[in-house]
Amino acid sequence: MARLKVAVLISGRGSNLQSLIDACAAKDFPAEIALVISNRAAAQGLARASHAGIATATIDHKAVADRAAFDAALDRAIRASGAGLVCLAGFMRLLTPGFVAAWRDRMINIHPSLLPAFPGLHTHERALAAGCRFAGCTVHFVRAETDTGPIIAQAAVPIRTDDNATSLAARVLEAEHRIYPLALRWVAEGRVRVVGERAAVAGAEAPDGAMINPAG
Ligand code: GRF
Repeated sequence: MARLKVAVLISGRGSNLQSLIDACAAKDFPAEIALVISNRAAAQGLARASHAGIATATIDHKAVADRAAFDAALDRAIRASGAGLVCLAGFMRLLTPGFVAAWRDRMINIHPSLLPAFPGLHTHERALAAGCRFAGCTVHFVRAETDTGPIIAQAAVPIRTDDNATSLAARVLEAEHRIYPLALRWVAEGRVRVVGERAAVAGAEAPDGAMINPAG
């Protein structure tokens, strides 16, 4: 079986990248990481990639003229790697509409909220301030507007009364590390189809029942 080549774009810690590296280490996983690109040379995720023997590149956004030039350099590097899918994993740069269009339905992102609630930054602080009973994370295809696009998978976690942004972020991050490899597997297996801006996953079922918080 030919494995789908993937380019992962990061800016920092790279814990989600690590979850993808770990998943790809399994012989029967249908994807492999061909290249990890960071816009920051100091990103911890670059060391994770090197440790796993994966090719890395740094494209410093401050060293190029503008967003279009940055995205053109990204595009060149991704294509040269042979990747057919882009995974954003804590990549903190806005992408130009042209780049997003070029990778339409071939670029996925993980976001630490139950989209469409709380796009953008500080998701956990905002979920706590709103008094939400659940938080979570979303893997979705990327569209030009930040943190929008057809949803592939979500995980919900309860918010506890004694949570702060740090404790909630840790609970959500664990869920991120579960659903990103899962979503990548489905995409690489060709099971995810976008129809009318909704993504359907062939052969995947919704779980039964409701999670209720507080539980009473
Ligand atoms: C994650 O919470 C991810 O959902 C968001 O940025 C964070 C990146 O963390 N997009 P890491 O670099 O993967 O550890």
